[in-house]
Amino acid sequence: MTLPAPTLDMNSDRAPWAAFVGDDMTRQALLSVAREHGWSEDSVLLGDAAEALRHLAGQATPKLLVLDLAGSADPLDELLGLADHCDPGTRVIALGTVNDVNLYRQLMDVGVEDYLLKPVNGDALRDAVEHALIEPEPDVSEPEDDDKARLITVIGARGGVGATTVAVNTAWILAHEKDKRVALVDLDLYFGTTALALDLEPGRGFREALENPARIDSLFIERAMVRESDNLFVLDTEETMGQAIHPDPTAIDQLLEKMRDSFDMVVVDLPRESLSNTSALTESGEVILVADLTIAGIRDTLRIHEYLVQSAPQARLTVVANRVGLMGRGEMTRGEFEKGAEVPVDISIPFDIAGVLEAANQGKAVPEVANRGKPVTALRDLSTRILHDETVDGDSRPAWKRLLGLKGGL
Ligand SMILES: Nc1ncnc2c1ncn2[C@@H]1O[C@H](COP(=O)(O)OP(=O)(O)O)[C@@H](O)[C@H]1O
Ligand SMILES: [Mg+2]
Repeated sequence: MTLPAPTLDMNSDRAPWAAFVGDDMTRQALLSVAREHGWSEDSVLLGDAAEALRHLAGQATPKLLVLDLAGSADPLDELLGLADHCDPGTRVIALGTVNDVNLYRQLMDVGVEDYLLKPVNGDALRDAVEHALIEPEPDVSEPEDDDKARLITVIGARGGVGATTVAVNTAWILAHEKDKRVALVDLDLYFGTTALALDLEPGRGFREALENPARIDSLFIERAMVRESDNLFVLDTEETMGQAIHPDPTAIDQLLEKMRDSFDMVVVDLPRESLSNTSALTESGEVILVADLTIAGIRDTLRIHEYLVQSAPQARLTVVANRVGLMGRGEMTRGEFEKGAEVPVDISIPFDIAGVLEAANQGKAVPEVANRGKPVTALRDLSTRILHDETVDGDSRPAWKRLLGLKGGL
């Protein structure tokens, strides 16, 4: 019998597979699959998920993991515990005795490749392994998107929590320290402060572009944007209060679309009142939600997160707790916040007068004023996280953990 050539690279350091099974009959079925692929018989072991955890600790996880969850009281929980210790890209086939469509769906939802009922049928097992080994076809539906800049949208759960500070400093660090060509766009058309934060005069072209999107081309964008440095350009406007702007509804979308052709990254400071007004969210690869550790911060994080799950399911959510420590004992702890808001805090930025506030007062980015210390480290961590996501096309957690992250836990 000839097997289709597996498309995974079997010669790299990671083992092709490891299987942990609870009984000898299942072990025999797996051993025959191992032999057919020329994989070591030592890769099929007797044991449960806890044994797998012990075995895999401290080494690169294999590309394919077969886990027997039959003896487990809570298969899903067991699996997720293991996910913390798995390298990204590891695929999982689960075996079990519970014939329950809900469990099956939950396992598929968290990214398990297949769930096979015991006693396992040899052919079904073979098929499942073959299937798990096939690399997904690259998405060729929109090839031109490959060159498009990554869109990063920053939203404040509430006013004044520091969304603009995060947007400006993220854009600055990406441009100055990570050598990306970055566009920073302020969609608060009346009270935007991104240009102010970098001591720049807002340009005049934004309004014109909004009212007359037919004129938007790369040259126009360059003229409309204010140059902070070779790598960082800002699009901001200070519209006169009381004067209504009548933007063409599609203008902002077109503007963002064009900008994504001219830059490596586009960072949007999006007022939460405008969440549903633009395609910024639906096109974003990353949404950064900035909140403070207060009851209102929890409530608004919950509500915005719920909205994002619906309206921007493609985006990875990064939650930033900012101005941490400002309110002393009146503040929630990070743990309390996470529990209430049902999302993990990914980055925590302390309230910092000498660095963050001083930088804003001087119209500079934080690293220009305070190059060391916790606030700037947190801001750099945020940029690294964004870049990392770009290079690995996903974050560093295995797929099933990532899915859970999006849903805020099961
Ligand atoms: N971590 C921080 N430490 C000290 N001051 C901060 C911090 N983050 C933001 N600020 C200050 O808080 C104020 C509001 O921040 P801003 O970014 O304009 O909030 P938003 O855009 O969410 O309304 C600004 O004066 C800013 O300099
Ligand atoms: Mg703001």
